Amino acid sequence: MKNICVVGVGYVGLVTGTCFADLGNRVTALDINEERIENLKRGVLPIYEPGLEEMVKRNVSSGRLSFTTSYAEALRDAEFAFIAVGTPEGVDGEADLQYVRAAAEAIAEAMAAPLIIVNKSTVPVGTGDWVAEIVRAKQPAPMPFSVVSCPEFLREGSAIADFMNPARTILGSLDHDAANRVADLHLPLRAPILVVDLRTAEMIKYASNAFLATKISFINEIANVCEALGADVKEVATGMGFDPRIGRQFLDAGLGYGGSCFPKDVKALAHMANVQGKHPQLLQAVMDINHDQRRLVVSKVRELLGDLDGKVIGLLGLAFKPNTDDMRDAPSIEIAQHLQTGGARVQGYDPVAMTAAGRHMPRVRLCEDAYEAANGADALVICTEWNEFKQLDFERLKGTMRDTAIIDGRNLYDPAQMHRLGFRYRGMGRGYNGNGYSQP
Ligand code: NAD
Ligand code: UGA
Repeated sequence: MKNICVVGVGYVGLVTGTCFADLGNRVTALDINEERIENLKRGVLPIYEPGLEEMVKRNVSSGRLSFTTSYAEALRDAEFAFIAVGTPEGVDGEADLQYVRAAAEAIAEAMAAPLIIVNKSTVPVGTGDWVAEIVRAKQPAPMPFSVVSCPEFLREGSAIADFMNPARTILGSLDHDAANRVADLHLPLRAPILVVDLRTAEMIKYASNAFLATKISFINEIANVCEALGADVKEVATGMGFDPRIGRQFLDAGLGYGGSCFPKDVKALAHMANVQGKHPQLLQAVMDINHDQRRLVVSKVRELLGDLDGKVIGLLGLAFKPNTDDMRDAPSIEIAQHLQTGGARVQGYDPVAMTAAGRHMPRVRLCEDAYEAANGADALVICTEWNEFKQLDFERLKGTMRDTAIIDGRNLYDPAQMHRLGFRYRGMGRGYNGNGYSQP
């Protein structure tokens, strides 16, 4: 049992703190957002993440997990302080480190005993050293501490499973004693542990996210060629994926990547390269392709409906991916804006992200379910591949729509079946030209 403080109770901090508590440690989770902390004390979570609410309640009742807004209280007995605050996109595409700075300063001012500061936020290479400088400068009296980078690789929607069964644990520090103590915390997870220097650990995180984003843009580029030549990108991805050197994961063509991480992290990595006078041309292409995919969906709507003025479009799925309520950089937001700019009225439905959607897309009419989102619509656009959209009552759906266009931004459906059902269907890279599969 170790005493751990987690700074920031968002997607990463809340999952990290709760999982460490579940592993038997005593965790105090801290946030400057008083409302979040008050709600958490009452068992109300700030985010939707499958399984998390039950796990939080269990660990709070057992006395292993508590919440506070006080750094002094959170650090009183802590041996480790995990920083898990946000690092959003700054004005020039760089990572905005204001929250990391504030957290480092507050830790320095409040720490009353030697401490290992573990950085879990995704931060530019060199940030660990910078955090150490801040802490040193802000301590009222010198107190030993060490900074260890421990990047997080969990995905929203499967965060608990990802945290508890990581593919690897990366630790960055030249202080081997500190790294070993952080490694000990992770031993129950039984994943390979790689200890490297701070900067290398920070780069492993960016390179990993950028590589996954590259896979997505790669398959989206292939999808567009497939579509022109009459091939089906879903089968192409399956066929490629059998090769263990390639792998099937992250080869789903569609609207491209969204969310709070890939978009900002690829941009921040490109920014770091540019600042060093390097020319990150692959990263630039990855971003360009991703950007184009959202526009491509809108052009498919136009292709089927013509002028958008006065048309009604239903969006199925609004969150950036299934099993989360996170709307940060969700493709649905930009798609809705383009459709509205063209004069269309947009209505949408998401199984869990409706509250967040209301904030991000105030001009979209929010509906009770998929069928209401289809009601009176000229076209439906599938933005998020939630399970409940996989086997809809298509006859009912068609009966309620004004026209029969479906633009499947996540390739959920079988094009031939949708055609048989009487829909005018467009997937992403499915080689379907409207009259059947096109021949090369
Ligand atoms: P988030 O926005 O969900 O949560 C951040 C939390 O930090 C908020 O509750 C905020 O109030 C709090 N905070 C801000 N400043 C603070 C301060 N000075 N002291 C205490 N609390 C403070 O962020 P997130 O999505 O959990 O991401 C956190 C970091 O982890 C980012 O760097 C992100 O890139 C990285 N990351 C995120 C994910 C993910 O799936 N979301 C996965 C891996 C890594
Ligand atoms: C991603 C990474 O997968 C995590 O390892 C990482 O920790 C996290 O970013 C982070 O650094 O924050 P996340 O953004 O939660 O996790 O979700 P993903 O499942 O990676 O999906 C990201 C986006 O890519 C989504 O919009 C998704 O729809 C899209 N995607 C994913 C595709 O378009 N195709 C795919 O094949 C896979």
